[in-house]
Amino acid sequence: MEKSSRIYVAGHRGLVGSAICRRLRAAGYSNLLLRDRSQLDLTNQAAVDAFFAAEKPEYVFLAAAKVGGILANSSYPVEFLRDNLAIELNVIDACHRHGVKKLEALGSSCIYPRLAPQPMREDALLSGPLEPTNEWYAIAKIAGIKLAQAYRKEYGFSAISLMPTNLYGPGDNFDLQSSHVLPALLRKAHEARIARSSEIVVWGSGTPRREFMHVDDMADAAVFLMLHYDQPEIINVGVGSDVSIRELAEMICRVVGFEGRLVFDASKADGPPQKLLDVARLHALGWRAKIGLEQGIAATYEWFLTTQRQPVGK
Ligand SMILES: NC(=O)c1ccc[n+]([C@@H]2O[C@H](COP(=O)([O-])OP(=O)(O)OC[C@H]3O[C@@H](n4cnc5c(N)ncnc54)[C@H](OP(=O)(O)O)[C@@H]3O)[C@@H](O)[C@H]2O)c1
Repeated sequence: MEKSSRIYVAGHRGLVGSAICRRLRAAGYSNLLLRDRSQLDLTNQAAVDAFFAAEKPEYVFLAAAKVGGILANSSYPVEFLRDNLAIELNVIDACHRHGVKKLEALGSSCIYPRLAPQPMREDALLSGPLEPTNEWYAIAKIAGIKLAQAYRKEYGFSAISLMPTNLYGPGDNFDLQSSHVLPALLRKAHEARIARSSEIVVWGSGTPRREFMHVDDMADAAVFLMLHYDQPEIINVGVGSDVSIRELAEMICRVVGFEGRLVFDASKADGPPQKLLDVARLHALGWRAKIGLEQGIAATYEWFLTTQRQPVGK
């Protein structure tokens, strides 16, 4: 990939896509092709084909997807399965037919079986039943992995698939109805400090262990792997360590300056006791995450405070 290469980042307004654009620009890649959903609906095969024919991208980062939590997945199974299958099929096929030199597609750690041994290695894929709450999304993502592998096998198309861990950072969703645990706790602790409340409620027992990666580290890995990885096998992208939800909540309270109590609501589901990716393959390639969790939370809190002062716009 040259600094002047034509690079299409699909989903450039999202958490991951926006971080990839920041990383590419910082590294001097200036020829970014960007279209938001209103300009290019990736579920529309004819529109995707016309875009690739006209713009002739050379490298593609596929960070567009219909994403959401348990509630959204269970309410809209059709959209999670159909839209994600359509996006992957349209983009991967157009990449191949229009001469894209390399495609990097983003998956998710939810593609691994519910009871996969921890930390989860890449070869755990398709080794057992999925977590039922997000199987629609996971099945679509697994189909995307297989599609990329099939185009490589049959046509020699250079497509790689990355499986990131839980991400957080600037651009995250802080809506308490639909956000992930880290931004939700950050917002709760912030609002409790402002309101001088004596406690915040944390869902679950606080004991499950989870891995969190700053999205700028993810974007750095995405560019690194575009340059240095070209194999059919999926590759995990994570930090290689986890924290308990209690430890995470305590860290967030320190960053925010909230000194009240943590109350654990054990009536809320905990989910699996641990979810951690094995990142031995990524480390062997020479890449490691650089942003510590507390440092990354502090940077995200600064971003959150800035967006609180201005109308939010990604
Ligand atoms: N966030 C995480 O913790 C995490 C962890 C692991 C993996 N990932 C993966 O990273 C990828 C991106 O996730 P994210 O967190 O960045 O999600 P996000 O913030 O919701 O961004 C998704 C992007 O996809 C775009 N998009 C959705 N449907 C589209 C369509 N039909 N046509 C065109 N664009 C469409 C959205 O456009 P609009 O802005 O116009 O809606 C948005 O820009 C996903 O594959 C996800 O599985 C994320």
